[in-house]
Amino acid sequence: MTDPAHSSRNRFPGKVVVVTGSGSGIGRQTALAFATEGAQVVVADVDTDGAARSVAEIEAAGGQAIVCRVDVSDDESVREMVELTISTYGRLDVLHNNAYWAPLNRSVTETSLPEWDRTIAVTLTGVFLGCRHAIPVMIEGGGGAIVNTASVAALAASPRFGAYVAAKGGVVALTRSVAFDYGSRGIRCNAVAPGLIETPATEAVLADPERRAWLTGKILVGRAGQPSDIANAVLYLASDESAFMTGQTLVVDGGRLIS
Ligand SMILES: NC(=O)c1ccc[n+]([C@@H]2O[C@H](COP(=O)([O-])OP(=O)(O)OC[C@H]3O[C@@H](n4cnc5c(N)ncnc54)[C@H](O)[C@@H]3O)[C@@H](O)[C@H]2O)c1
Repeated sequence: MTDPAHSSRNRFPGKVVVVTGSGSGIGRQTALAFATEGAQVVVADVDTDGAARSVAEIEAAGGQAIVCRVDVSDDESVREMVELTISTYGRLDVLHNNAYWAPLNRSVTETSLPEWDRTIAVTLTGVFLGCRHAIPVMIEGGGGAIVNTASVAALAASPRFGAYVAAKGGVVALTRSVAFDYGSRGIRCNAVAPGLIETPATEAVLADPERRAWLTGKILVGRAGQPSDIANAVLYLASDESAFMTGQTLVVDGGRLIS
């Protein structure tokens, strides 16, 4: 569902946008929102069925998009994602590093080394690789905007989620570092930190009424977030409306962190 307040806007005509992890959840909604506002979108995901469903949704709404199979933890695969973007659309203006993987409900002592390594590889190294391959072509094209998906879990303690929290903390720090190093060459890099959002990743936990009530009880706006709440923030950070912002992490959590 595209936010009706934004469906009539057109902030990205002629822009080319890559969204990783856009075969589901927040990434799918963000890809749809970019396409609705005129962008040509590369729907990049390891799950090509999910990516194809996102592209079908975008096309049904009158937008333009292609499927790209990518494993964001793999250097060569991310290089190919950028190459496909350039060979298809000729440029790259916006990268939304959004894919993640993490084991649920694990304290540090319960987390195996392969689980830790995979979490860091997808959730943190994936952001590094996206930046590493996109920045040179963005600079060649005159600049660009990178928006990374962090999490409120990077900014406050989160129970039994150690590997994920560490990876997202890295995303917040890397966002600042990229902003610092490439600001003078026309690259802005910001992050969005979602609170609790209703996506397939949180479906199981929110299906339990008691857990839902406990989790949403401290959200000041009185509900869980929707993917469109995050898509709206991502489009703001990717657009010229945020031209004087870089290196920042924008919290979008219904007020949970301050409650
Ligand atoms: N849902 C929430 O409550 C919430 C809260 C804070 C942060 N986030 C963040 O938002 C982002 C999106 O989460 P979501 O809730 O939409 O999850 P989701 O599970 O719906 O979507 C994640 C997508 O990432 C893809 N993916 C996984 N491994 C990949 C890989 N190696 N290469 C490419 N794609 C891969 C999956 O196939 C899936 O399509 C994540 O970065 C997540 O950490 C979500």
